[in-house]
Amino acid sequence: MTRTEIAIVFALASLSARAETPLERGAYLVRHVVACVACHTNAAPGSPEMAGGRKFSTIAFNAYAANLTPDPETGVGAWTDEQLIAGFREGKRPRGSIIGPPMPVAMYRGLSDDDAKAIVAFLRSLPPVVNKTPRSSYRIPLPANYGPPLGVVPAVSDADPAAYSAYVAGLAHCMACHARRGEDGSPDYVNGLGAGGAEFRGGWGVSVAPNITPSGIGHYTDDELRKLLRTGERPDGSKLNPPMPVSSYAGMTDKDLSAIIGYLRALPKK
Ligand code: HEC
Ligand code: HEC
Repeated sequence: MTRTEIAIVFALASLSARAETPLERGAYLVRHVVACVACHTNAAPGSPEMAGGRKFSTIAFNAYAANLTPDPETGVGAWTDEQLIAGFREGKRPRGSIIGPPMPVAMYRGLSDDDAKAIVAFLRSLPPVVNKTPRSSYRIPLPANYGPPLGVVPAVSDADPAAYSAYVAGLAHCMACHARRGEDGSPDYVNGLGAGGAEFRGGWGVSVAPNITPSGIGHYTDDELRKLLRTGERPDGSKLNPPMPVSSYAGMTDKDLSAIIGYLRALPKK
């Protein structure tokens, strides 16, 4: 090899080994794993990404997803990085008010500091969109907080498969829909993990979150589950109705999908 060829080989090798930047990591999480986009982008085709306005109606509330683009008046451009992280990880706005459901704040408390900062880097990169979203109204009391203040949240290493699986499944917030509902209609993350039963109404009619513990989906192979999560198609060819965010999960890496499947296999049967 000539010196130039050697230099090219080294340049290519370092390119492929290049670590993901925080912005790339944030875009991946927001679009494909945590799926903030599935709620914070309006349903109408062509709606600007993350500019809010999508409405969620249940017996307990009429909520409107917020505009998370950097517009300082109608979005979150005036929030500091710390305020944004406290918003999605602890459900607190800068002036102290509490962010209500269906924003799955409880699922985001585990977000590592690095991943939280990556999400902020992505939100800051969005084009600012002026879109004043309506105020949400709740017929249930909102909690005073979603738990004690968080300190440092360390990254979860993929060298520990059980911890990494639980981390990814938590970010993908499967249980926000697939946990059985308690008496007040909110997910029971203590006794109802994966049991299903929650109803979702919309233009498609009514869909009911099924049991996704091994007694519900144990008969699916890993490949069938990967396909179902990426395409919304069951092994018998039938299609899932909304609101499961399959178009977001479609872009998940094989590694993260496999981690989620490992998590489902290990759930106690319901
Ligand atoms: C299941 C739907 C859903 C998902 C997923 C979701 N959100 Fe939300 N989010 C909402 C709704 C609805 C509100 C408004 C709640 C209210 O009015 O109290 C909200 C409010 C917020 C707010 C408060 C903004 C303000 O101006 O008051 C922030 C910040 C936020 N979300 C960030 C995020 C981020 C970041 C993600 C992904 C990591 C995310 N959300 C995922 C539905 C969702
Ligand atoms: C926003 C709510 C929501 C989220 C988030 C969600 N799901 Fe679902 N899921 C549903 C609903 C509703 C159905 C039933 C759809 C239907 O009946 O057409 C469903 C169906 C399924 C099925 C099909 C089961 C069967 O018996 O055929 C599987 C498997 C599944 N979900 C797994 C997951 C996993 C794993 C995650 C997280 C990575 C997840 N879901 C996240 C609402 C959700």
